[in-house]
Amino acid sequence: MKTAATPTERESQAEAELMELLRIPSVSADSKHSADVRHAAEWVAKKFAAMGLKPEIIATPGHPLVYAETPAVPGKPIALVYGHYDVQPPDPLAEWITPPFEPTVRNGAVFARGATDDKGQMLTHLQSVAAVLAAQGKLPLQVKFLIEGEEEVGSPNLGPFIAANLDKLACDVIVVSDSSQFAPGVPAVTYGLRGIAYYELRLCGPKQDLHSGTFGGGVTNPANVLAKLLASLVDEQGRIRVPGFYDDVVPLSGREREEFARLPFSDAKFAAQLGVNGFSGEVGYATLERRWARPTCDINGLWSGYQGEGAKTVLPAKAGAKFSFRLVPKQDPHQLTENLQQYLEAQLPPGVTMELIDFHGAPGVVFPLESKYLEAAANAIEQGFGKRPVFIREGGSIPIVGTFVRELGAEVLLLGWGLDDDNTHSPNEKFCLADYHRGTRASVALWDELAKTS
Ligand code: BES
Ligand code: ZN
Repeated sequence: MKTAATPTERESQAEAELMELLRIPSVSADSKHSADVRHAAEWVAKKFAAMGLKPEIIATPGHPLVYAETPAVPGKPIALVYGHYDVQPPDPLAEWITPPFEPTVRNGAVFARGATDDKGQMLTHLQSVAAVLAAQGKLPLQVKFLIEGEEEVGSPNLGPFIAANLDKLACDVIVVSDSSQFAPGVPAVTYGLRGIAYYELRLCGPKQDLHSGTFGGGVTNPANVLAKLLASLVDEQGRIRVPGFYDDVVPLSGREREEFARLPFSDAKFAAQLGVNGFSGEVGYATLERRWARPTCDINGLWSGYQGEGAKTVLPAKAGAKFSFRLVPKQDPHQLTENLQQYLEAQLPPGVTMELIDFHGAPGVVFPLESKYLEAAANAIEQGFGKRPVFIREGGSIPIVGTFVRELGAEVLLLGWGLDDDNTHSPNEKFCLADYHRGTRASVALWDELAKTS
């Protein structure tokens, strides 16, 4: 094989490029970072141009999309790579060992916000295409790239873009690396993701904060009401109490439960990894089942009253919370919003008003395991990682995946190169550099394996 650079040179160049992208604080949720998000889109476009492609930066009402494609290869399937260059907010900053946007290598991993989610994983496919083009001048099939800047805020503008560009995006298989391996040395193909429905609840009481002695007991306290409403979402058995919530939930099959149970997973080890002394959740389900294949509700943030030092006897005028449900396939986030609104309103005592803000929602997905593309992916992972992958579901959400299936009618391959302890969305996010290179090698093999399917 004719190579433009020795593998190690290419690997160190690929690492340097990842560091460059990680230095850009492309936080999509925070409008103060809009220029940085744009800068990251430009960086991705520049990388495509350096690979010899003709990238487009496509404006949306929010953050831009970056699109590029390699030449058509008649008679071969078309692969579409989807990834995201935006990242979650880095807070709490004080808990980072090194600053989130100053990528630093420790113990073979690069630490930075976005390292694994999704800059590092997404780049593996650009690096693989760059390597094949440099070595061979062409790919064995056409690869289209669609890289967005709004995944972490629920992809609000990508659905309409897809619906309006069906010809441009036409493909047979969609490749997404934005998930995880099962464990170090246990690569995985993910065949299911949970969906999501994300809300903010705002409660308003008296027109200003009051003395809790003078007014407490006479005036409804919005913080008390918030605590009661939030507690009413989940029962003692860990089941969600919003009416109709379980109507469309597909039960886990016995076969799937057996397969999950066969995976090398230990509650004790998992607890030690997270620094907790045990787990709780929906009664009757094992930890992996609850994380991957059962719906859940989590409070993501809540506030009210006095947060400063010492005690203050206040009856707060306002209280609020952000909370979200993870959904399983067939549950409809829009239906949930209606049911939730009614359920909360019915419990509201006099003296408090509520506003429920629906931030975003997306359904869960599960894919059949019988597929020639899945087999191709398993072969490619074996070549990149030296092991055949296990098949898993995961609990996170990639909101646009359901839209891809519906609008493009293509199969989706979720090939995660990350690890469970990569600290995604939390301080000290990392990505193992060996996995960056193994992922790139698996991606190189994937183009050949997919091309062989026809
Ligand atoms: N990479 C994650 C999705 C993910 C996490 C897949 C864990 C598999 C396992 C993605 O970037 C993400 O975090 N998505 C958000 C979507 C939300 C903001 C709409 C999520 O799951 O919270
Ligand atoms: Zn994420």
